[in-house]
Amino acid sequence: LFERLEAQPADALLALIALSRADTRPDKIDLGVGVYRDAAGNTPILRAVKAAERVLIETQDTKTYLGSAGDERFVELIKPIVFGAQAAPNDAIVGVQTPGGCGALRLGAELIRVAGGGARIFVGQPTWPNHMPLIGSAGVPIVQYPYYDPRSRTVLFDAMMDALEGANAGDVVLLHGCCHNPTGADLDLNQWRAVADLVSRRGLVPFVDLAYQGLGNGLEEDAAGTRLVVEAADQALVAQSCDKNFGLYRERTGALFAKGTSAKNAQIILGNLLGLARTSWSMPPDHGAAVVRIILDTPELAADWRAELREMLARIRELRARIAAADPRLAYIDDQNGMFSILPLTPDQVLELRAAHGIYVAGSGRFNVAGLSDDNVDRFAAAVLSFLPE
Ligand code: LMR
Repeated sequence: LFERLEAQPADALLALIALSRADTRPDKIDLGVGVYRDAAGNTPILRAVKAAERVLIETQDTKTYLGSAGDERFVELIKPIVFGAQAAPNDAIVGVQTPGGCGALRLGAELIRVAGGGARIFVGQPTWPNHMPLIGSAGVPIVQYPYYDPRSRTVLFDAMMDALEGANAGDVVLLHGCCHNPTGADLDLNQWRAVADLVSRRGLVPFVDLAYQGLGNGLEEDAAGTRLVVEAADQALVAQSCDKNFGLYRERTGALFAKGTSAKNAQIILGNLLGLARTSWSMPPDHGAAVVRIILDTPELAADWRAELREMLARIRELRARIAAADPRLAYIDDQNGMFSILPLTPDQVLELRAAHGIYVAGSGRFNVAGLSDDNVDRFAAAVLSFLPE
C-alpha cells in the first residue's frame, strides 16, 4: 500500500525554521514563520497566560471529555471580541472551539462541502500558502481572485471586485479580517463597506480568516471589516485564532463561528459542525481554550492581556516605522499592518539574502516584521536596500 506514496516536499514556511536554526552565524535573523518576538528576540509566554495556567493547575479537578464543541464558555467569551458586545446575544451566530485557526478553516470548508449546492470558494491572490491546500483538500472548488500587486504594492481592489461580481449566490469569499498574510495590505473601511454591499447584493457568503486580531491597529479596529461583512451577509463564517494574540501558538486554540439565516438555522449549522468535528478531531485540545477562558473571565487578567497585546502591537508599529524611515523605497511598510509585508525581491535575491546576510525570509519575499529586534532592524533594512535599484 504505502510503497505507492510519492515523496512530498517539506512545507516551505515550516522548513525555514529548521534552515535558520541550522545557520551557526550568531547574527542571523529569522524572519520566516509568523511568531512575535520581543526586543530581545524571545517569544515569551504572555503574563496573563502564565497566571491563568497557574490558576488552571490549582483549580482543574478533572480531565474528562467536554464534547465536540470544546469549551463553550471560551467560545462565549471570544464571540463579543470578534463581533462586538452588541452582537453577543445574536443567536443566529453560533460557534465551536477548534484546534487553532487551521482547524476552524478546515471545519468551515467541510461545512461548505456538506451543505452541497456546488458552492465555490473565492480566494484572493496572493494568500497564506496553506489556505488553498487546506480548503481544497476538503473538496471545495477554488476560484482565485486578484488581491495585491507586489510590484506596485497596492491592493487590486477594482480587479478584486470585478472578479467577485462573477460569483453566484451561495458562493463563498475568503477574506483576511486584518493583517493580511502575506502582504500586510488590508482593505480600508470604505473598501470593506463596498465588499459588504457586494456580498449582500449578490447573496455571497463571507468566510473571514481572523488570525491576527489586535496586532494590526487594535482589537476593535482589526475587527471592523469582519463586523461589516458579517452584518451585511445573511450567512457567514469566521475562523478565529488565539495563536498570535494570546501567544498560544502550539496550544492550537481557535474557534469557528457561523451565522445562519435564523436562530433555528444556526442550531442546524451547529449540529453539522459538531458532527464534522467528531469525524475529524472528535474534540479540540483543551489547555489553550481553558487558559483563554480564565483570562477573559478574570477582569485583572483580561486587562493585563489587553495591555500586553497593546505592547506587542506598539512594538510592531514601531518596527514598521523604523524600516519605513530607512529609505523611501521601504516607506510602504509603514502603511501595512500586522506581522507580514512582502519585500520586492526576486527568489534569487531571497536566497542571496540568506547566503550573504544570514537573513531568512519566505521565498515570496514575505518577512515577519515582528521577528526583528531593536539592534538588527537597521542591518536588515540596509541588506534589503542593497538589492533594490536606486
Ligand atoms: C505563518 O504564516 O507564518 C503562520 O500563520 C504560521 C503558519 O502556520 O504558517
